[in-house]
Amino acid sequence: MNQDPTAQQRKKDHIDLALTSEVLTSDERFYYEPILAPHPHDGITKTQFLDKSFALPIWISSMTGGTEWAKTININLAKAAKEFGLGMGLGSCRSLLYDDDRISDFAVREYIGGQPLYANLGIAQLEELVLENKYQVLKDLVKKLDADGLIIHVNPLQEGMQPEGDLIKVSPLDTIKKLLDHLDIPLIVKEVGQGMGYRSLEALLKLPLAAVDFAAHGGTNFTKLELLRTDDPATLDSLSLVGHSATEMVNMVNQISKELGDKMLCKQIIISGGVKDFLDGYYLMQTLKTPSVYGQAGAFLKHARGDYEALRQYVLSQKKGLEMSYAFLQVK
Ligand SMILES: Cc1cc2nc3c(=O)[nH]c(=O)nc-3n(C[C@H](O)[C@H](O)[C@H](O)COP(=O)(O)O)c2cc1C
Repeated sequence: MNQDPTAQQRKKDHIDLALTSEVLTSDERFYYEPILAPHPHDGITKTQFLDKSFALPIWISSMTGGTEWAKTININLAKAAKEFGLGMGLGSCRSLLYDDDRISDFAVREYIGGQPLYANLGIAQLEELVLENKYQVLKDLVKKLDADGLIIHVNPLQEGMQPEGDLIKVSPLDTIKKLLDHLDIPLIVKEVGQGMGYRSLEALLKLPLAAVDFAAHGGTNFTKLELLRTDDPATLDSLSLVGHSATEMVNMVNQISKELGDKMLCKQIIISGGVKDFLDGYYLMQTLKTPSVYGQAGAFLKHARGDYEALRQYVLSQKKGLEMSYAFLQVK
């Protein structure tokens, strides 16, 4: 039996804090089952995804590159991915299509070790490359970053609201199909915070993509962000409200997979967009019937802009929360 050297202080804390520890709301999504399992063992959260091993089922969503600050952020994120066994998408690597001046912002393979690292490009740039048959440029990009694959972000609302935005001239689906035909590289398709509806999701899930990343509505919103960069953010603001939440998209994928059966060729999902914390992530992963991890952008950004230790503490807290969830929570 262990001694209890901190008992006196602890008992004092309990008396001090008891009256401020009342909780008046409850999270009704789960059955809490304290009787059935011991405290979580190491490895309880381990999973295979994108042909690699994840110690935690967490994806660091695509964010940044192309500025000095981005380099610090990306190195911090890559270190966290390595230490905690996560996967990571880079922010748009568009600047590397023109020259390699900013390659050090993105080249984080040495920090992330063997964990999944994906390059990222927007559909407008990909459309141009496809129309010009420049597939080799993409192969070279993935190779020089030593990335495991490429994320395609499809963002027509963002491009439409961005003062310097690009026009998308071909249906993104056609461009994605051509990329799949010509590239022998794992491809992931995502939005950037608006999510996507049933028919878009269904069309993507019929393709042999490595994964679909929701980038759902309800968190960081690039339609709003781009509008805030204009002189008149209010007039078109209602567009920032349309889109699909991660919960809605989970339900849609469950329905689509039932309907498509063997015709569903994309069998992995990154649940992201407005995922606030480990508990949202756990709930959504348990609700989705297709193998998944959950992703966050804004939440990581908050902790990745300075010292690595701040980010480390954040991920440690998410790890602890997830482990407790796996051990004691079941979705109703
Ligand atoms: C600062 C920042 C930059 C981003 N840049 C990109 C990008 O270059 N490419 C991309 O696919 N998504 C980009 N995103 C979108 C995120 O990957 C993600 O889909 C979106 O923020 C929703 O997730 P969240 O609610 O967890 O923030 C960016 C997000 C943030 C916060």
